[in-house]
Amino acid sequence: MKTTAFIKKYYIDRSNSQSIKWSRGKKLGCLPMWIADMDFKCDERVTKALKDFIQAGDYGYANLPEDYYRVFIDWHEKRNGVSYKQEWIRFTRGAVNAMFQVLHSLTQKNDAVMINTPLYPPFKAAIKNSGRKVIESPLQYEDGYFTFNYRDIEKKFKTRNVKMLMLCSPHNPLGRVWKKGELEELFELCHKYHVLVCADEVHSDIIMPDQEFVPALSLKKYQKQTVSIIAASKSFSLAVFSHCHVVIPDKKLRDRFIRYQQEHNTASVNVLNALPTYYNYLYGEEWLNTVNNVIFENYQYLKRELGEYLEMTNLEGSYLLFLNLGEYNISSSAAECLTDKCHILANPGESFGKGYENWVRLNLATSPENIKTATERILQLIKTK
Ligand SMILES: Cc1ncc(COP(=O)(O)O)c(C=O)c1O
Repeated sequence: MKTTAFIKKYYIDRSNSQSIKWSRGKKLGCLPMWIADMDFKCDERVTKALKDFIQAGDYGYANLPEDYYRVFIDWHEKRNGVSYKQEWIRFTRGAVNAMFQVLHSLTQKNDAVMINTPLYPPFKAAIKNSGRKVIESPLQYEDGYFTFNYRDIEKKFKTRNVKMLMLCSPHNPLGRVWKKGELEELFELCHKYHVLVCADEVHSDIIMPDQEFVPALSLKKYQKQTVSIIAASKSFSLAVFSHCHVVIPDKKLRDRFIRYQQEHNTASVNVLNALPTYYNYLYGEEWLNTVNNVIFENYQYLKRELGEYLEMTNLEGSYLLFLNLGEYNISSSAAECLTDKCHILANPGESFGKGYENWVRLNLATSPENIKTATERILQLIKTK
């Protein structure tokens, strides 16, 4: 499908909806480009299938669709060449909930858990609120490119008794799609120092041209030390349903996770909330491919217009762009400057890590028209400086 036809058919005006993103924008008189959801409605076949379920009125206890696991497994096999087994898959109420359950079941109180910053804030919050210690290893930055600082990671693995690495792949807010070699080097260190890996892969379906997503569990050598958090919630904008999977190949780790779920009564799956994932995996591929094109076009436009003035990450995956307002930031925080001067709501850089006050995270999963409006407002700020 052409991107223009897609926007015409699937862009939704959310300004009068219950959308958190848009209601805050409206309250502040801003174009909302914060929070990670999309301004597009699902493929029409998905909406119809959900409507049919609701309309049938049978709201008793229900099984998952018989082929739910096959559809899930086929999706990931076909898109990324990774083979999951049905018995490896557990369910949680969203990805952040999965982080908590993984931390509680596979680490102990006061254990050290590493993250690579700047990073989506709930990682750190989940570790802290679970009574574990946060060990930060900042990513290294050079020419718009962030990568792991392996020396720092190894030093901290050696000296801080790290038990788990929580990896964001693709990375929020940096839009990095980690290369196979980068992951292998990282996982080899984890292997050497007996550090478990929990890979949050919820952005793995939004991958820009010429990039290849490498699932953590496709690296067979490291499967026994790795669990993955996988969802369709970012791919198809299904946040309201809070449905997520934790994939655990190693039986010992899986048994610990299952025991935790049994003890806390979190093992069951909400079937209604699982249906949008199922129907999107069945019917949503063309929709998703077009969304990827829309995001790439939005990114290219923004880069073309603003690239000569502002530093920004090279978007490899996700729809989240990290942008440095640099000298044009005339407030204590770039996000505040964008709100006050450009009437744009963005996520503040400093919420992802110390020292990023001049940066903002912008959500590009919207119409080209909104991207154009945002770009013009930022250009205005640049030109009046
Ligand atoms: C990497 C990552 N993990 C988890 C989440 C939150 O997922 P959920 O709403 O399913 O808890 C987000 C949301 O933006 C995210 O970017």
